[in-house]
Amino acid sequence: MTAESIAESPYCLVVDDEPRLRQVLVHLMKTEGFTCVEASNGEEALVLLQRHPMTLVISDLRMPKMDGLELLRHTRARWPDVAVMMITAVADVEVAVSCLAIGAMDYLTKPFHLEEVRARVAQAMENRRLVLENRGYQRSLQDKVAVQARRLEELFMTSIQSLAEVLELKDPYTRGHSVRVSMYSAVIARELGLDGEMLRQIELGGHVHDIGKIGVREDVLNKPGKLTDLEYEHIMTHPVVGWRILAPLLAETPVALNIVRSHHERFDGHGVPDHLTGTAIPLEARIAAAADAFDAMTSNRPYRPDGLSVADAIKDLQVCSGKQFDPEVVAALVRASDAGRLSVVRRSTAPYGMPVIHRDASAPARVLA
Ligand SMILES: [Fe+2]
Repeated sequence: MTAESIAESPYCLVVDDEPRLRQVLVHLMKTEGFTCVEASNGEEALVLLQRHPMTLVISDLRMPKMDGLELLRHTRARWPDVAVMMITAVADVEVAVSCLAIGAMDYLTKPFHLEEVRARVAQAMENRRLVLENRGYQRSLQDKVAVQARRLEELFMTSIQSLAEVLELKDPYTRGHSVRVSMYSAVIARELGLDGEMLRQIELGGHVHDIGKIGVREDVLNKPGKLTDLEYEHIMTHPVVGWRILAPLLAETPVALNIVRSHHERFDGHGVPDHLTGTAIPLEARIAAAADAFDAMTSNRPYRPDGLSVADAIKDLQVCSGKQFDPEVVAALVRASDAGRLSVVRRSTAPYGMPVIHRDASAPARVLA
């Protein structure tokens, strides 16, 4: 029922067990332009309310079967746009006031003057109009806020995407790698029972985990041979560089940000940058660390044109389980692999608007390398 339709056909329901009083009120309300219906108690009134949308209910307090208070409660709960005015004897004024607290628009005290009823009804209708108008504004405001929130999210993803593209230009390997780390991280996370927002942020973190490599020299990034100690140190600044770049952008997604900073921590405490140990490393980063290594081993790199087989990569992960990697995370990855879930990752929607990946069910994990 819209405010317009109400304005076109205002219906008034008069509820009172005294027929004479009902007639007086019905007559008065008709002269005010309302179409009137009558009920002698709350139960009858509810039936009429179900049949036809009302604008106004004028109800006595004391009635047989269902009293005015009970009718008011039902009306407020089921038809909140209906204005309710209570009629009360002078002795019931306290109850009438409590009716206001549960949503009655006003109350009239018997005996009442018709002019007074007319004025109070007009006031109640004006209040109701303002309430409906205010609700309409709120809805439109909520719609606008939702549109703005979507736009902010799009801008956020565009910013992240731009950074990712800069890195891809610098290090062509990164594109497929980030997407695969995101996928493998999600598979492991699901295996560990994670889902919802946590899972979405883990996927996002996988996509952007190496963004700090923007700050690494290209000759080091793409060096075909073994890195010197200095070069290795230089490349391993990327978690902190990435964390600095993304901290303002990922303030609302701390799980993703943890992956950026801590994906090179080691379970035994010999990782970087914070030398965290065991479960002091955020779970999401322990997951990404295993996914990162798994993809690095199974992919073609400048210094290793032929990646390891999935089986060999898993063996290597198991050797490093408890040292470099969280044993529970490695076990989850092995379980997923044994169950064929590592190579059957198939998504129709990408997290946070990232590129959509479809993989053939029979394709081995290294196909995307
Ligand atoms: Fe990394």
